[in-house]
Amino acid sequence: MRVAVLTGGGDCPGLNAAIRAVARSCFANDWTVLGVKNGWAGLLGEGDIEELSRRSVSGIINLGGTILGTSRTNPAKSQADMERVVLNLEKYEVDALVAIGGDDTLSVARRLHEGGMKVVGVPKTMDNDLSETDYCIGFDSAVQVVMEALDRLHTTASAHHRVLVVEVMGRDAGWVAVEGGLAGGADLILIPEVPSDVDRVCRHLERRRAAGKDFSIIVVAEGVKIPDLEEDRELGPVDAFGHIRLDKRGVAEHLAKQIEKRTGFETRVTVLGHLQRGGSPSVTDRVNGTRFGVAAVELIKEGKFGYMPALKGNRIVPVKLEDAVARTRTVDLELYRLAELFY
Ligand code: F6P
Repeated sequence: MRVAVLTGGGDCPGLNAAIRAVARSCFANDWTVLGVKNGWAGLLGEGDIEELSRRSVSGIINLGGTILGTSRTNPAKSQADMERVVLNLEKYEVDALVAIGGDDTLSVARRLHEGGMKVVGVPKTMDNDLSETDYCIGFDSAVQVVMEALDRLHTTASAHHRVLVVEVMGRDAGWVAVEGGLAGGADLILIPEVPSDVDRVCRHLERRRAAGKDFSIIVVAEGVKIPDLEEDRELGPVDAFGHIRLDKRGVAEHLAKQIEKRTGFETRVTVLGHLQRGGSPSVTDRVNGTRFGVAAVELIKEGKFGYMPALKGNRIVPVKLEDAVARTRTVDLELYRLAELFY
């Protein structure tokens, strides 16, 4: 049996744990493992694929990023590219493919499966927004960064009696903002799932000041909707999957300007950006990456293609790729309300 593995979309800590787990489980079955370079890009052209050995996957569980490289290449944009992917899988005699990624990567995996290819997925995205799973690789490491940043920002916010607006990633879901903000003691969290307005934000800050709290930390998700915020409408190009660059919205910068103007409170901005995807994986990402990787190979053994392992509670269960990518898993509003108790 020849199993290929690829990582697509944004990188995050925990990918290498999953690659290692896929490879080691295959080796245990005396199967060959092929590493596809740079996501779907490695299956275009002549193909960029290398056999993985015990050695090449050794000592990587603690490494962030992905030893295979990644990209946001979308072969599903063109029929010719999809055909090329299939041709390359045939050329390299791939019996089964493990696609590790978020909704973009897994949508392509699902299309390939529908076309008759033997594909399984592994859920990965720091946004934690795939449906049908309680967890995606990369989330815990990302919120750890947010929490640590908020711990640091507290001391400087308090020393200067400032408002600090901290922008976090997460695309159209507020998981990173809510869990990172809750853990880091944010004084207000703004997420895409709950539309807000500048007046409400300012009133909240003024109430805190009147209550003797002379600094505030606001965590704002990059995809938040604040209709009365004047935004620079030049959003720039979209990526191969049609997503706009949310960092280009500069939502934190716009909000900070309005806060300063309307309240007179000195306000500063921190955009955590790709720091949230860097560094070593957390325990959770190493353990879940490993569990997902092993489970993906089990799915191949069982011939359960078109599925991915999902975490439900603390159990790993198979779910259909088509269900996992059907919609964005949005924030649990109960958790959001819980965080609000501490503002
Ligand atoms: O999907 C993961 C993610 O980190 C989003 O939270 C963010 O909007 C996007 O990727 C950034 O993408 P890129 O690394 O291509 O700038």
